[in-house]
Amino acid sequence: PSGIAITGSGSAAPKTVLDNAGLSQVVETSDEWIATRTGIRERKLASPQVSLAAIATEAAQNAIAMAGITTADLDLIILATSTPDDLFGTASKIQAELGATKAVAFDLTAACSGFVFGLVTAAQFIRTGVYKNVLLIGADMLSRWVDWSDRRTCVLFGDGAGAVVIQANESDRLLGFEICSDGTQNSSLNLSYQPRPQELLPGVTVGLGSYQPVTMNGQEVYRFAVKRVPEVIEKALYRSELSIDRIDWLLLHQANQRILDAVSQRLKVPAEKVISNLARYGNTSAASIPIALDEVVRQGQIKPGDVIAASGFGAGLTWGAAIFQW
Ligand code: ACO
Repeated sequence: PSGIAITGSGSAAPKTVLDNAGLSQVVETSDEWIATRTGIRERKLASPQVSLAAIATEAAQNAIAMAGITTADLDLIILATSTPDDLFGTASKIQAELGATKAVAFDLTAACSGFVFGLVTAAQFIRTGVYKNVLLIGADMLSRWVDWSDRRTCVLFGDGAGAVVIQANESDRLLGFEICSDGTQNSSLNLSYQPRPQELLPGVTVGLGSYQPVTMNGQEVYRFAVKRVPEVIEKALYRSELSIDRIDWLLLHQANQRILDAVSQRLKVPAEKVISNLARYGNTSAASIPIALDEVVRQGQIKPGDVIAASGFGAGLTWGAAIFQW
C-alpha cells in the first residue's frame, strides 16, 4: 500500500470583517463577554454575492500551486462542508471552476470534524492504490445558517475555506488516525430541516419546510470536546506509535480558546505548540483546521518533518484525530 503526504495547503476568506464591537450593535453582547468566554475578537463574513464554491476554489488553487501540480492531475476532490451552495452537492461546481476534468468530486458532511474525516477518507483511496492526487477542501459559511438575533450562537461563527493536496508518496506521512461518532448526543448541536405538512391529496401528505438556524447546547458541547478530544488524540498517537512529546504542533478545530487550553492542558502540551487563529476567524467549522494549518505553513512556523496532531470535533456528534508529518 502506498504512503500518503500532504504536499500543499491554501486558504481563503471573505473580505468583510465584523469585530466584537460591531457585533455588540447587532445583539446584546460585548467584546469582554465574547473574548473571555471564547477568545474570538472578530470574524470574516461572506457577502451575498460570494458563493461557498468561490472561496473554496480560491483556497484550492493556492494549495494546488504549493503542491506544484496542475488541476488536470487531480483524481478526486472532496469538499467537507455543512453549508453547501447546493444540497445536491457543491464539489462538482468546484471541479468545473478548477477545470479538474479527470477528477471525481463529492461533498462530505461531518460538521466541524469534516476536515479530519475527509483526510481519512482521502487516505483510503490513496492507500488502496485507486487514486494518487486528492484535493481536500474544508469550507463553511455558517453566517448563512445562524440566527443573527441569537447571541448564544451567532457570536461564535465565521466564514472561510481551507484546502490541502494529499498525494501518494514513498514515505508515509499519515502516521495514525481515529474517527468517532455518537448519535445519542445528536441534539446538542443541530442545523436541522423542519418539515411542515402539506396535504397533496387525502392520505398523501408531504413535508415541505425549511432549515432551522443552528441550535446548540454550549455547555454540553464544551464538556464533550474537553473529554473526547484528548482521548481521540491519545488513540491516534497510540496507532502512530508515538508519545505526546513527539508532537511539534497541536492543531485543533478552532471552536473556542477555552477548549484549546483545556485540551492542551490535559495532554500536557505546552501553549507554544498549540496553533490558534480563532481570535481573527471565529469558528469556521470544517474550514478551521486547514485555514490554521495554511497560516502557520506560510509563516514558516511549521518545518518539513514536524509532527502535527490534528483534531476535529462537532455536530453529530463526531470527532477524530489524525497524526501527520509535514
Ligand atoms: N453575550 C453576552 N451574554 C451572553 C452571550 C453573549 N454572546 N451568550 C450567552 N450569554 C449569557 C447567557 O444568556 C447567560 O446569561 P444568564 O445566566 O443570565 O442566562 C450567560 O451569558 C451564561 O451563558 P452560558 O451559555 O452558561 O455561557 P457559557 O459560560 O457556557 O459560555 C459558550 C457559552 C461560550 C458557548 C460555552 O458554552 C462554550 O464554549 N461551549 C462550546 C461551544 C462550542 O465551541 N461550540 C462549537 C463547537 S462544535 C462546532 O464547532 C460546530
